[in-house]
Amino acid sequence: MTAQVGLGTRGSEGDSQPESESCVSRSGKVLLEVENVVTGFGSNTVLHGPSLSVREGETVGVFGLNGAGKSVLMKVIAGVLPLWSGRLAFDGADITRVPAEERVARGMGHVPQGRQVFPGLTVEENLRLGAYTLRRHDKGRYPAALAAVYERFPVLAQKRNQLGGSLSGGQQASLAVARALINQPRLLLVDEASAGLAPVAVRELFHTLRQVVATGVTILMVEQNVSFGLQLVEKVNILQMGRIAYSGDVNTLDQEALVAHLGIGRMLGKGVAGTLAGRNVPPGAPESGKGGKAPKRAAPGSRGGANKRKGAAQG
Ligand SMILES: Nc1ncnc2c1ncn2[C@@H]1O[C@H](COP(=O)(O)OP(=O)(O)OP(=O)(O)O)[C@@H](O)[C@H]1O
Ligand SMILES: [Mg+2]
Repeated sequence: MTAQVGLGTRGSEGDSQPESESCVSRSGKVLLEVENVVTGFGSNTVLHGPSLSVREGETVGVFGLNGAGKSVLMKVIAGVLPLWSGRLAFDGADITRVPAEERVARGMGHVPQGRQVFPGLTVEENLRLGAYTLRRHDKGRYPAALAAVYERFPVLAQKRNQLGGSLSGGQQASLAVARALINQPRLLLVDEASAGLAPVAVRELFHTLRQVVATGVTILMVEQNVSFGLQLVEKVNILQMGRIAYSGDVNTLDQEALVAHLGIGRMLGKGVAGTLAGRNVPPGAPESGKGGKAPKRAAPGSRGGANKRKGAAQG
């Protein structure tokens, strides 16, 4: 671990732990609790009461088909969508009705689906906007936080005055992660960060997220690239039409259940097995198992589908 990865944590338990599988603090206290959350849009209920918990230092995955409610779940946790019922707790405190900005101040960061980089703003302006909460609460910490992000992501330092829209897909992914990390979160919510990236950029993202984990940051991630996700997470949750269909430790993963619940075929089942067998191998390397990318299939009644996630892979 280098000084570069020293941003992103507020002195949580994992600080001094090396970058390895053993950095996971299995005995860590529960950092995030999601209990029976229900929400939706108009008369359409999207989340039908899923529950999950994330312990300090863990990396936990949420997988599921298009329209399963993964992003809605992340938005509910981040506080950008209201709950109809259920309960959320962060670091032991009830945050069910706590506004999004206050959740950021308490240590939550959100890397939204699609990255949401502002294309017409420079890299530094994007970071500055991301650091809104930090600057508001403690303006004096902003220069050091910005410097730490630039140290961690030298490419962003080089391109600090370039427009966000001019960056490659991989650089935009770095910017989206950096924009969340600049507030030094304890919990990072990462929604499909690898989507649309070329293999080389996916590998970079893998190392970035591993380094973030090594600094003690807890991660709850949604991934459509199952091979990629399974190499990072300790726990797997499968969301199916707004309900948890499967939940378990990745080391004791019931692959048949995974394949069955994700509605993916035998080929992917083999890919998953290969991925699990080579969990320390960066995605894209030959050992990591082929064919591990879940086909995007629309769940019945969903708005997602074949025309989502358009565009060629970009590095
Ligand atoms: N702003 C919205 N207005 C109305 N319905 C919405 C809205 N956002 C999401 N939905 C509905 O909620 C359901 C879950 O959407 P969500 O974006 O959480 O899916 P997802 O699991 O993240 O899928 P994907 O893998 O495609 O990102 C979908 O059926 C979608 O139609
Ligand atoms: Mg989504």
